[in-house]
Amino acid sequence: MKPEEELQDVAEAVRNCTDCKLHLSRKNAVPGEGPAGAALMFIGEGPGFHENEQGRPFVGAAGHFLEELLGSIGLTRQQVYITNIVKCRPPGNRDPQLPEIEECAKYLDRQIEAINPKVIVTLGRFSMARFIPEARISTVHGRARTINGRVIVPMYHPAAALHQPSLRRVVEEDFSRLPEMIERAQQSTITPDESSSQAQQLSLF
Ligand code: URA
Repeated sequence: MKPEEELQDVAEAVRNCTDCKLHLSRKNAVPGEGPAGAALMFIGEGPGFHENEQGRPFVGAAGHFLEELLGSIGLTRQQVYITNIVKCRPPGNRDPQLPEIEECAKYLDRQIEAINPKVIVTLGRFSMARFIPEARISTVHGRARTINGRVIVPMYHPAAALHQPSLRRVVEEDFSRLPEMIERAQQSTITPDESSSQAQQLSLF
């Protein structure tokens, strides 16, 4: 199946999903959105009020800040893939619970597999815990690490930065290093053959 088709398939499955109790209170499931070939993928926590209304991720205040941050590194939200750890809104914006995260993991796994992004940015601690369960966000934020062959960059959730003005600068600085991380991740996925022919090309100049 082509990545685009796989993503559509996942979205359809998410909209019909009844595997955890979050389906009982959702208005719209929020599978995620963005191009199948995105180099950069963002994983947030879960839909909030506005996302539940519209069926789209990060369309409220945190989403506006995310768009601003993307703009600061020359990107638009149309160029990246944006999704969440859980695809349906936890009532009253409570934290997602472990059984909900576990039931929803199969959709995120398929999205990651289909998109095969160069870099995954986790937004907030629930998303980070999926990849780096033992970490503290205050220690590891903004630092790339490779986990199961994927480059993961944990970051504070944009909503946290909106609530705590002191975090805003931290998030902005972490974002400013993303282009270099993507560049590096791209370099390291070049096959030995390609890199030797690249070296040859470079040596011509
Ligand atoms: N916060 C999230 O974690 N995800 C959204 O989609 C919106 C707000």
